[in-house]
Amino acid sequence: MNLIDSSFLCLDIGTSGVRGIAHHIKDANFEKSAFFTCDSYDTMFALTTVIDELEKQIGSHFDTAYITGNFGPSCFDLAIKNTLWSNEHKITTNDIRNQITRITPPDGFSALHLIPLRYDTPHKHNTDTPVGFIEKQLISMFGAIFYSHQGIYKIHEYLRNAHIQPDNFYDPHFLQSAILNKHEETVLFIDFGAEYTSASIWTKRGPVFHKKINSGGTNVTNEICKTFNLGFEDAERIKKTVASLVPKEMDRFTPADLSYDFSRSDINEIIRPMFIDIVQELKTICSETIKNHTPTKIIVTGGGSAIEGLGTIIENTFNIPTETLAPDTTVRALSDYVWESEKPHRQAYLSKSEKWSRRFKKITNIFAKKPKKRKKSIPILPSTLCFDMSNPETYAMFKSGGISMIHVDIMDGFYVDRVESSIDELRKIRSHTKSHLHVHLMTESPKIWASDAIAAGADTVILSTNTSGLRAAIKIVRASGKRVGIALNPNSSVLLLKDILREIDEVMVMSVTPGASGQQFIPGALHKISVLNTTRKKFKLNFKISVDGGINDKTAALCWNAGADMLVCGSYLAHAHDFPLAVQSLLKKESTK
Ligand code: DX5
Ligand code: ZN
Repeated sequence: MNLIDSSFLCLDIGTSGVRGIAHHIKDANFEKSAFFTCDSYDTMFALTTVIDELEKQIGSHFDTAYITGNFGPSCFDLAIKNTLWSNEHKITTNDIRNQITRITPPDGFSALHLIPLRYDTPHKHNTDTPVGFIEKQLISMFGAIFYSHQGIYKIHEYLRNAHIQPDNFYDPHFLQSAILNKHEETVLFIDFGAEYTSASIWTKRGPVFHKKINSGGTNVTNEICKTFNLGFEDAERIKKTVASLVPKEMDRFTPADLSYDFSRSDINEIIRPMFIDIVQELKTICSETIKNHTPTKIIVTGGGSAIEGLGTIIENTFNIPTETLAPDTTVRALSDYVWESEKPHRQAYLSKSEKWSRRFKKITNIFAKKPKKRKKSIPILPSTLCFDMSNPETYAMFKSGGISMIHVDIMDGFYVDRVESSIDELRKIRSHTKSHLHVHLMTESPKIWASDAIAAGADTVILSTNTSGLRAAIKIVRASGKRVGIALNPNSSVLLLKDILREIDEVMVMSVTPGASGQQFIPGALHKISVLNTTRKKFKLNFKISVDGGINDKTAALCWNAGADMLVCGSYLAHAHDFPLAVQSLLKKESTK
């Protein structure tokens, strides 16, 4: 991949729709990211819709594409290869490669993944690698996943017609195992697709089982069509809105759709036994491998994974803890996988370019007049509590997400129990970045802290309620020309601000108890946001409303709806694999306006 200026595309091409993620890379960092999905059984239509939309959002054509999805029939083999040499021999990677070339796919199939599971030699058993051993014999076991030529050819054809040159194809479970199984447990992956339901078991070294059942969501839709004499599209739509595996009394009296007179439970009585059958069948085909490898976890994905109650049925049938993930998990795993595999190139490029940029900085400074760019600011503020602010990569990552305001949490050990980030650290953060620094003082003596924070580079100072000298501190910040705000704690009422709303630039509603990141959003904050929003409209006030604590893609949407202008976010962004995409997921969506 060209890391200087390129765009790449990740596609999950399924029978009932296509999901895509695209990234634009600049200087080995994400510059822009976009996600789009189109549900349609017309694969060509879904594919071109997704590509067109992503191209529009990214603003360029794609140089590379990575593909996962439904590649049709597959098969699996635990391939064992035995090599005997006449003399003692130093085993090399070439010897392993030779064994791999001797793995022969069944007729009409070709290999997608050949993953070494274990190596045995006369002196060493079950090792990760035999390279360098001096031995006469090598017995290797590979987990081999094959796909039919026909299935792969079909996807190639679609991509060719959409003018996309694919770079690599990946089995969905291969990606999920690589990205989701960081703890290296043995995991059973189950994917509910439209055409197939697939199950595979992955140990920390690779796949030991991989099978597809030739039934899935489409069969369920067809059964609904048959029973109620419906067209496919109607049946699919009704299935999507109604499907639940948890019987509910009221469903018998609730119509499944306004145009028809059958009830939600009429539909679910068809769906439930079909899914129970599929889960039972999966259990039967996996039982031998489960006995041998004892998976500690089941991960459920695919279009069907969204059906209410499916996770519980699986967990009860297999008696293994089950996690159900969103249908877009696979395409996200693909994007993470590609990005992680490029890491060595990226790092090499970055260290080289840093060296050269240092050398040329002086010369370019003389000639180049820096163009003044007015950047649109994104109302998402990452909280320093969750990031390593001494690492320059953190600032590069913020830039990749379009971040222009950083929320600096300062705790003095008195106002809250913890001591976190001093004025010294604020000064260091300022030396790393020109971004707007939004400083949250969780401190006693706000007067002293506010003056120090301004001197250290704060652009906005947020003072905490229930501290003495608050009014004087507000005056100090205003006199310095910087923005001033008040953090309203979860147990403080909006009424507390009545007299000072005209004097401040911002009210920051605390949606967690100040002191730590990673806490749950307190829903009571939403009411305060809307009261503040109504008050400022009514009295024509200009203060902004920000929210701090427990922000994720779900709580963010609630805050925007209630009238928030800016959101502070810590752990959700810090745990995201893909920072720019996570920032995007927090932004106000059209429908929530
Ligand atoms: C809490 C801090 C927050 C916190 C946010 O005392 O003021 O800024 O770091 O982190 P999350 O988003 O994880 O709640
Ligand atoms: Zn904060």
